[in-house]
Amino acid sequence: MDEQTSVTHHQAAAAAARPSLGVTLCGVPFRNPTVLASGILGLSQEVFDRLANLGIGAITTKSCSLQPRVGWHNPTIVNWGHGLINAVGLSNPGVEVMVEEIRTTKAHLSQHGVPIIASIFANTIYDFGTLTRYISEAEPDLIEVNISCPNLDTQHEEMFSSNAFVSAQVTRMVKRYANCPVIIKLSPNVENIGNIAREVVNAGADAICAINSLGPGIVLDIDTARPILANRTGGVSGPAIRPIAVRCVYDISRAVSGTKAQIIGTGGITDARDAIEMILVGATCVGIGSAVYHHGYDVFADVCMGIEDYMQRHGYSNIEEFRGLALS
Ligand SMILES: Cc1cc2nc3c(=O)[nH]c(=O)nc-3n(C[C@H](O)[C@H](O)[C@H](O)COP(=O)(O)O)c2cc1C
Repeated sequence: MDEQTSVTHHQAAAAAARPSLGVTLCGVPFRNPTVLASGILGLSQEVFDRLANLGIGAITTKSCSLQPRVGWHNPTIVNWGHGLINAVGLSNPGVEVMVEEIRTTKAHLSQHGVPIIASIFANTIYDFGTLTRYISEAEPDLIEVNISCPNLDTQHEEMFSSNAFVSAQVTRMVKRYANCPVIIKLSPNVENIGNIAREVVNAGADAICAINSLGPGIVLDIDTARPILANRTGGVSGPAIRPIAVRCVYDISRAVSGTKAQIIGTGGITDARDAIEMILVGATCVGIGSAVYHHGYDVFADVCMGIEDYMQRHGYSNIEEFRGLALS
């Protein structure tokens, strides 16, 4: 065997031994489990192309509503030392603009094999139906339903996701009009997240994303004795909420076991260790949000590299071999 052939054989053997990071969420193939969480980056082709080139698994868009929303005044996002507190106020250009943007973005991302998840939110159950019909025209790979923001529906003064019955009603409405799998995004601010997950899965949800930001919380400027956020209160995210997110995913996994529902585990993931923890409690994919502010776009590739190292150390050839191990 000449030197050239031996090098080629060596490379082939190394490639064969490499674990596979690929996962399938609701029938959609992802090249790895990392997902950009909703609301973290606006729809910019340039940024999304960069993320795709850097190896991200999938991208979730900012939550979009029927009408444009301006959001709250600045400051809207503050790094308080252990994560972020935000009151962006779900600012977005409205569904008409988003449909066009998602269409164009999808065309770009599909060249890299990166699925796009369209996030939607509405103030009434009826509006969720209308919004789903519109957003479906953009043909996203999946739709994520944000029922875990404070809503303005006069019939329901709390978030939709605080109530299992209302959450199931929203799910049924979205499923009626969606032309792709539906992910329901839940809040940690409830007594029994497992119960809510079970109800939305019984109502037809294909997957659950957990968790949305925790709270609301307040961070003060002690010199002025005023809250730092213009809105005073905001959602808490980042490393400080991770143990709560892991417990929520653990509870959801147990509650929906025996069904086909899958989970995007989100909340405080900063590195591979955190992502592996989520997979061990049953997550198929891992959502990463605040860490993008702290660590930049490389966080997705870094998490993948770390997961691959872990799999090599443990002799796993694919993610299914260790997914949910902590549940037994
Ligand atoms: C600035 C900011 C904006 C967000 N906007 C949205 C949003 O539009 N829709 C949504 O479902 N979640 C939104 N979230 C919540 C995140 O998607 C995620 O669920 C939460 O931050 C927990 O993940 P993390 O700790 O990795 O940030 C936002 C979070 C932040 C920090």
